[in-house]
Amino acid sequence: MNYYYSIPLHSNIMTNLSTTTNLTSSSSSSSSLFGELVTGNFLVRDLLFLPEIQMVEIFLAVVVFLIIHSLRQRKRQGLPNWPFVGMLPSLISGLRGDMYEWISNVLRRQNGTFTFRGPWFTNLKCVVTSDPRNLEYLLKTNFSNFPKGEYFRNTVRDLLGDGIFNADDKIWQRQRKTASLEFHSAKFRQMTTESLLELVHARLLPVLDDAVNQSVPIDLQDILLRLTFDNVCMIAFGVDPGCLSPGLPEIPFARAFEAATEATITRFVTPTLIWKAMRFLNLGIEGKLKKSIEGVDEFAEEVIRARKKELSLESSDDINKQRTDLLTVFMGLKDEQEQPFSDKFLRDICVNFILAGRDTSSVALSWFFWLLNQNPQVEHKILAEICGIISEREDNREKGNDFVLRPEEVKKMEYLQAALSEALRLYPSVPVDHKEVLEDDKFPNGTVVKKGTKVVYAIYAMGRMEEIWGKDCREFKPERWLKDGRFMSESAYKFTAFNGGPRLCLGKDFAYYQMKFAAASILYRHRVVVVENHPVAPKLALTMYMKYGLKAASVKNQVGAARRKENRNVGGGATGRKKQASAGLASQKENSWEEEAALDWEEEVALEGAATADQIRFWPAAGGG
Ligand code: HEM
Repeated sequence: MNYYYSIPLHSNIMTNLSTTTNLTSSSSSSSSLFGELVTGNFLVRDLLFLPEIQMVEIFLAVVVFLIIHSLRQRKRQGLPNWPFVGMLPSLISGLRGDMYEWISNVLRRQNGTFTFRGPWFTNLKCVVTSDPRNLEYLLKTNFSNFPKGEYFRNTVRDLLGDGIFNADDKIWQRQRKTASLEFHSAKFRQMTTESLLELVHARLLPVLDDAVNQSVPIDLQDILLRLTFDNVCMIAFGVDPGCLSPGLPEIPFARAFEAATEATITRFVTPTLIWKAMRFLNLGIEGKLKKSIEGVDEFAEEVIRARKKELSLESSDDINKQRTDLLTVFMGLKDEQEQPFSDKFLRDICVNFILAGRDTSSVALSWFFWLLNQNPQVEHKILAEICGIISEREDNREKGNDFVLRPEEVKKMEYLQAALSEALRLYPSVPVDHKEVLEDDKFPNGTVVKKGTKVVYAIYAMGRMEEIWGKDCREFKPERWLKDGRFMSESAYKFTAFNGGPRLCLGKDFAYYQMKFAAASILYRHRVVVVENHPVAPKLALTMYMKYGLKAASVKNQVGAARRKENRNVGGGATGRKKQASAGLASQKENSWEEEAALDWEEEVALEGAATADQIRFWPAAGGG
C-alpha cells in the first residue's frame, strides 16, 4: 500500500522543487502540500508511515522554500532575511568589500531607509536612513527622543567616561554650554589660531620641504594626523605632545590614544558578552585596551597635576592672561554641588575633545588632496584664489616659509571652502553615526521605530543620493556650493558631515579655519602628487581614514610659482571679489569663526543652517520601511 503512493508523492515534491512558480504561485496542489510541510502536519501525520521517503529530499524542499522566501524579502526589505541569522550573511559580504558603498546601494534601492535585522539571538536590529526628513526629525525636531543611548555609552565608557561625546541629558548639556562659550570667545580663537600657525610654519612646512629636498614620498595622512593631534592637545590640555617634529617620532601618549580608540571600536563588532568576558579576564584586545587606557590616563593625570600646581602658584590675573585651554577653563568651574570637577571628569572632558578634533580634519584634508590630484582644474582655481587674495596686500613680495596667511585672508577663500565642503560631502570624516530610540516613535517617511531600536544615519550614503544632490552627485564639483561666486552653506540635514541640531559639531568653524589655513599654506608652496597606483580605499573605523594612507611626493608648486608671479605683475584679482562681497550675503546665517558673540546651545541650534529638510528635494512620502 505504502509502495503505491510513495512514488507519486515523491515526484510531486520534486516537481514542486523544480519549478519555483509552483512553490510561490497560488497553485492549489503545491501550496497545500507546502502548507502541510511547513506546518508540520504532513510530517507528523503521514511521514511516520512513509519510511521510504527520503528525509534528505524533504529537508532540501524546506531549504529551497526558505531560500526563495528569504530572497523574496530582498525586494521588500532591501536584503535577504534568513531564518535564524537574519540579514547577517549580507552584512558579512558587505564588510568584505566597500562597506559604505554597500550601505549606499541598499539605501538607494529602499528610497533612503531600511531596517537591518540581525540573527534572532542578538539585539542587532537597527533602522538605517539617509533621508534628510528623518535626519532633521531625529537630530532636531524630536532630539530628546534620540539620545546616544545605553548601548553606545556602555561600549565606549572605559575610554571616554562621561565626556561630551558619550554623555546625554544634563551631563552633556553642561559640557556643551561651557565648551560652546569657550569656543566662541576671542581669547580661545586667538589661542587656536596662534597654535595652528606655529604648527604649520615651524613643523608642517619644514617636514614637506625635507621631503622635497630628499625626493622621498611621504604619507600625507600620517603627517596631517600628527598636525591635528598636536593642535587639539594644545586646545584641550594646553600642551604640545610634539608628534609633528623632524623625524616623525613616536609619542607614547599618541600611541596609547590611537591603540585605545582602535580597541574600543572593535567592541562594536564583538558580541557584548564576549568582550565583557575578555575584559574581565584581561584577555587579547581587551588586555591591550586596558594598558592603552592606562597610558592615556597617566598622561592626563600628569597634565592635570602640573596644571593644578601651576594655577595654585599664580594669581588669577596671571592665569587669565596665560591659559585658555579647555582644561584650565573647566578647572575654574564648579559642579551642581558647588564643588570643583573631579580629576576623572576633567580627564574625560579633555580625552573627548582630543577624540573629536584629532582625526576629523586630518582625514578630510587627506581626501581633499587626493581629490585635487584627480581634478587638477580645481587645484588651479584654488591657487588663483589664494594668489588673488594675497596680491591685495600692500606688500606682497614672496617670502618663502615666512610668508604667513592672515586670518582675514583665510576667511576670504570661498572657493577653497567650497572645495573642502565638496570633499566632506563625498568623504565625510564621520561616515555613519548612530542614536537610540527612547520611546516608540514614527519617522517622517513613515518608518515606525520602537523603543530601544538603534538608528544609524548614513552620512556617506547621503552624499551619493541623486535625490539630494542631483545626477552629478558622484562628481567632485566645488561649484555646487557657490552662488554668484560666494560660498553658500547647506542645510545640516542634507550635508550632515558636521552633524546637526543641538549636537552640531562644536569645532565646525575652527575645523574649517584649520583646514583652509593648512591647505592654503601647503598649496601655495607645494604640489602634492599621489604616488602612481597607490591604492585608495576607506578604512572601516569610526572616522573615514584612508586605509593605506596617502603616499605622495611633495614637489615645489610650479603652477603656484607662475601664478604668484602673474599676480605680482597684474596686481591682484581683488576687484571682482570686492564686487561679489556686496552681493546679498545677509541670507547666509552660518556662525562665523570671526564672530565674537558667545552663544548658548539653543541659540546655536536656531542659527544653524538656513534651509530645513522641507526646502530640499528628497524621496516621495511613501518611501521607507
Ligand atoms: C572636518 C572636521 C570635523 C568634522 C567633519 C566633524 C564632525 C563631527 C560630527 C559628525 C560630530 C557628531 C558626533 C556625534 O555626536 O556622534 C561632531 C561632534 C563634535 N565635534 Fe566635530 N568635527 C570636525 C572637527 C572638530 C574639531 C576640530 C573639534 C574640536 C577641536 C570638534 C569638536 C567636536 C565636539 C566637541 C563634538 C561633540 C558635540 C556634542 O556632542 O555636543 N570637531 N563633529
